[in-house]
Amino acid sequence: MTVTPKNKQKVAQLREQLQKAGYAYYVLDNPIMEDGVYDQLYRQLQDLEQEYPELITPDSPTQRVGDKPASQFTSVKHNIPLYSLENAFNSEELAKWETRWQRQLEDIPEFAYVCELKIDGSAIALTYENGILVRGATRGDGVTGEEITQNIKTIRTIPLKLSIDHPPSRVEVRGEAFLPLDVFEEINQERTRLGETLFANPRNAAAGTLRQLDSKIVAQRKLNFFAYTLHSDEGANEDIKSQWQSLELLQQMGFLVNPNRKLCQSLVEVEAYFQEWDTGRKNLPYMTDGVVVKLDDYQLQQKLGFTQKFPRWAIALKYPAEEAPTIVRDIIVNVGRTGAVTPMAVMQPVQLAGTTVQRATLHNSDRVSELDIRVGDTVIIRKAGEIIPEVVKVLTELRPSGTVTYQMPTICPECNSILVRPKNEAVTRCVNSSCPAILRGSIIHWASRNALDIRGLGERVAILLIENNLVQSVDDLYSLTVKQIANLERMGTKSAENLVRAIAESKKQTYDRILYGLGIRLVGSVNANILAKSFPSIEELSQASFESIEAVYGIGEEIAQSVFEWVRVPENIALIQNLQAAGLELSYSMPASNTSNQPNQILSGKTFVITGTLPSLQRNEAKKIIEQAGGKVTGSISKKTDYLLLGENAGSKLTKAEKLGIPQLSETELLDLIAEK
Ligand code: IVH
Repeated sequence: MTVTPKNKQKVAQLREQLQKAGYAYYVLDNPIMEDGVYDQLYRQLQDLEQEYPELITPDSPTQRVGDKPASQFTSVKHNIPLYSLENAFNSEELAKWETRWQRQLEDIPEFAYVCELKIDGSAIALTYENGILVRGATRGDGVTGEEITQNIKTIRTIPLKLSIDHPPSRVEVRGEAFLPLDVFEEINQERTRLGETLFANPRNAAAGTLRQLDSKIVAQRKLNFFAYTLHSDEGANEDIKSQWQSLELLQQMGFLVNPNRKLCQSLVEVEAYFQEWDTGRKNLPYMTDGVVVKLDDYQLQQKLGFTQKFPRWAIALKYPAEEAPTIVRDIIVNVGRTGAVTPMAVMQPVQLAGTTVQRATLHNSDRVSELDIRVGDTVIIRKAGEIIPEVVKVLTELRPSGTVTYQMPTICPECNSILVRPKNEAVTRCVNSSCPAILRGSIIHWASRNALDIRGLGERVAILLIENNLVQSVDDLYSLTVKQIANLERMGTKSAENLVRAIAESKKQTYDRILYGLGIRLVGSVNANILAKSFPSIEELSQASFESIEAVYGIGEEIAQSVFEWVRVPENIALIQNLQAAGLELSYSMPASNTSNQPNQILSGKTFVITGTLPSLQRNEAKKIIEQAGGKVTGSISKKTDYLLLGENAGSKLTKAEKLGIPQLSETELLDLIAEK
């Protein structure tokens, strides 16, 4: 049926009414329409859109929930990295930060701080083109995140269309997606009923929800969002010169901006704000773990720039970890992926920093003896940010009679082999390489998101595969059949097929992820990446001398030692061969010329000059990276210069390079160049 102008107008009208009502309800918390009326209008719009699908626009209120679940998320590279924040835990650290940033400047200018509450959620980045939301992405590791637009659209406080008249052609809004505390508790109660593992805190729950493939589920979870930064193309918002102004503009654009912000003229005022919210935050419906202090003036921010990880112009002042008393019901040990045996206290559930806590780590046997913790004891537990709760103190005066000193087990609770405690080490270990706990841990790690990212292979399935003797090592995963898996408890053909497909897909993962997945002690994903770039194949890494591994920028002695030893263990050599035979590529494909035993020499013979402030690297770091890739760094521009590595606020070198027509590279381009091989 052809669209009549009347219908077209009706659709536009309905959208506007619904958008206004939604904004009033969700952002302003001040409803202007009865729920029933809203539903009716919504249905009218839905009907019209169904009849005339050509009228559907991405910013229509009906488009907040997707029809079909996504099969997976794609990676997106952030144009500007999402930095993290340095932490300060007390006034001295805060004052030191102030001295530090001021020392960096020649003259101390007039300045103000914007104080915002630090929301305990998950950072996301939203891209608007000509005022329409076109992309939403998770923070990921700050450089690369995942595209989760459909999920983000379900957050009712995120406008699908900016409510300002002349939106810039492109703008990126960042902020925190979070779960209100009551929703968080509800989700965990539901998970308890279903026998699923609980989310440790609202942050994990928010991050987990954002990564749900089915946007219908996300919509039920009632995520919310506070906007806190605005990045727009140069010149698009000349009037915005400060963080405070950008928060106001964000609000005009239709975002929910946390109302509890304050412009402060000094650290004394900042601390008063911090104190005020230490009490105030207990009544907020969402969790905050500190205050973010930002220099207000954009020019000043720009002058100070960034360190490798943090902006120099902002800091998070954290509230101290919360403590609470509870009673120990049991003491158990947990055997991890590396065989490390960690004693844990199982306690009467207690509320701590907004979450329910039941277990706390006791770290190692020394700590157990030091505390003399016993079943029945009343203890104080503490939770600090990321860290698993720990037992701080035993209240021995409250100890009931008849308790006995806890003895660490001498045999592994999972495989009954004798536990060892290497001399000079605090950790007790199970050294049986076929211990099911170690195997379970290595499979879960192998399948984890930053490693081979095998969806559907979590703890439950790992246990099933091990118990049924289907997997003795991660390479066995690649010979599993649908039939074998379909026969396992609660699996069925459909999920077996999905799992086999996901495992097969994982063969395409890159070398650095595989290297991380191998679970070499001390090799986290960052180190794996560095190693993979310096030794672009497992053969090169295996043949590398200890010295050449240690010489890699970012790799210390201990890591080098661990890698050097790992590649020499016969079982590990066999594992690598089996993985290669299964079709995994333990190398980067690269030009034939670069097959030597040397780290990547892609910049060989090239001369660089560095100018300006780089977004994340210090100059000496950039120099080292260039030199490691075979390049040379000189101090002044000449005809012989091949590239100018260009940061912000560059001066005369840039002018000279432009005159000589010398190509310019940004930090990201340099890093990409080195990574591409
Ligand atoms: S500003 C470069 N403001 O805290 C600026 N972050 O520990 C970096 N966060 O990754 C972020 N509330 O997820 C900023 N008002 C706020 C925040 C906030 C929460 C989170 C954010 C960030 C983390 C750093």
